[in-house]
Amino acid sequence: MKVQVISDTHLEFFSDPRVTARAVVEPKADYLFLCGDICECGESKLFEHFVYFINYITPKYQLVIHVAGNHEYYSSTGESIATIKSKFRELERSNAKYKFLDNECIEIKASPRHRKSYIIAGTTLWTDIPKKLEVDIKYSMNDYKRVFASAKKNITPAQVTRLNKDAREFIDEVRRKHKNKDIILLTHHKPIMVAPPPGTPRDDLILKFAYENELKGLLAPPIVFAAHGHVHQHNDVSVTFGKQGATRKLHIYANPRGYPYQKTNFNPGEVITLH
Ligand SMILES: [Fe+2]
Ligand SMILES: [Fe+2]
Repeated sequence: MKVQVISDTHLEFFSDPRVTARAVVEPKADYLFLCGDICECGESKLFEHFVYFINYITPKYQLVIHVAGNHEYYSSTGESIATIKSKFRELERSNAKYKFLDNECIEIKASPRHRKSYIIAGTTLWTDIPKKLEVDIKYSMNDYKRVFASAKKNITPAQVTRLNKDAREFIDEVRRKHKNKDIILLTHHKPIMVAPPPGTPRDDLILKFAYENELKGLLAPPIVFAAHGHVHQHNDVSVTFGKQGATRKLHIYANPRGYPYQKTNFNPGEVITLH
């Protein structure tokens, strides 16, 4: 199965949706996975930009699957996460080739010619914020000024941790329910973390716990491919599980475009082939 993954296109930075839609992806695969921060969607003009992009790109694929990043929920008018999710649901109803996954999974066929199928599990993921870093993270991340848990009420670090707990429970449930299938996990926040060594400066710890997750045994087979965004740097690593003769690989990948001034090694035409 051939797939493409892009994230962090941050269409809110670009004024002409027709130009940016063409620039952010070169269609070359059956499926496109959008791993969040595609566009801020909390105000009508920017949401129109997002809708333009989705309606432009969907005819070029069998299906376009989207998990929201933190930036999809940014609003200058106090629109809540729930209100923005309902706009994605409305878009799903008007465009059958667009699928929004929010702690949900769907099964897709590898291709019309093959019997093999994959379970696609999608979640924003968020992060697990230690109590001792809650205040620092709250004052250093824009999420706590621009994301609203309910109308005009800013989200708190404790609420983000709760959303992360829900996401972990969802991943656990999908792995148990589909243990004989191959699972593709789509998240926005990074599903792996290199543990911070003792003495890590507080500013580095803040970044780590605002961006990455230590999922322990959750990030393992039957998950075969995990794609994420949020970290504005291309990521492509393979982890091997099991003993010699009975090994399974888990491929972890990110292809973020990033902000206009960033160099992220983004490749709009990169294709991943899954066997
Ligand atoms: Fe981003
Ligand atoms: Fe993000």
